[in-house]
Amino acid sequence: MPSLLQLEGLDSGYGDIQILWNVSLTVEKGEVVAVLGPNGAGKTTLLKTIAGIIKPKKGRILLEGKRIDGKPPEKIVEEGVALALAEKELFPLMTVHENLILGAFNKRARQKLDENLEIVYSIFPKLKERASQKAGTMSGGEQQMLAIGRALMTDSKLLLLDEPSTGLAPLLVKTIFQAMRKLMETKKELSILLVEQRTVQSAQLSDRGYVLSNGRIVYEGDIKEAVYSKSFLRRYMGM
Ligand SMILES: Nc1ncnc2c1ncn2[C@@H]1O[C@H](COP(=O)(O)OP(=O)(O)OP(=O)(O)O)[C@@H](O)[C@H]1O
Ligand SMILES: [Mg+2]
Repeated sequence: MPSLLQLEGLDSGYGDIQILWNVSLTVEKGEVVAVLGPNGAGKTTLLKTIAGIIKPKKGRILLEGKRIDGKPPEKIVEEGVALALAEKELFPLMTVHENLILGAFNKRARQKLDENLEIVYSIFPKLKERASQKAGTMSGGEQQMLAIGRALMTDSKLLLLDEPSTGLAPLLVKTIFQAMRKLMETKKELSILLVEQRTVQSAQLSDRGYVLSNGRIVYEGDIKEAVYSKSFLRRYMGM
């Protein structure tokens, strides 16, 4: 069985600037895999490359054994990969409900719209409460939930989450991590590639992890224990 997602020797960047160097990683079906790394390590670049927003310069990206690198972003969504970015791309003047519906634009997602909407509202009751509120007037944490909710509405196999807890007050961070746990329990078959700077919390949610540093994978394996080790944090996270 091929991995759900497999990256092989990926080089990527912006124009002439190379950011990712020979990145290889895998995500299996139903797995939650964390990518940790300091600011500027290339984490967002990695997710954007998988999602087809940036074209890799070298290497291959396989989804269930089939190449998706080089395909346009909307095609990659159709294949079952959803990206929820930290810099949210919500429609601020539209309501929460309308934003969620817009997430279900592909054919597969439209057919499962009601079912997925129910899942999103059960994971994020706040979104249900605020269904008719304009997205732009929601708090930072609520907008983060909405971004994840909208990604879920695409009915994907793989969810790429870019720092869902960044910029949030401690209490909201807890809420977001609790919501992610609930999401994992509700949708057991969903795979998640979780990019985070909050090492301890994301490690506890994840099955495995990688550390990205200066655009290179410098660690791969268990992270639940590793993140409590001072030498791991110093060596890989620059902490
Ligand atoms: N559009 C762009 N054009 C040129 N360089 C960029 C662009 N976007 C990001 N970079 C550069 O790529 C490098 C990696 O950025 P990236 O956003 O992938 O890091 P990150 O690990 O997500 O960091 P953070 O934790 O701060 O979000 C940085 O040096 C950044 O300045
Ligand atoms: Mg980033």
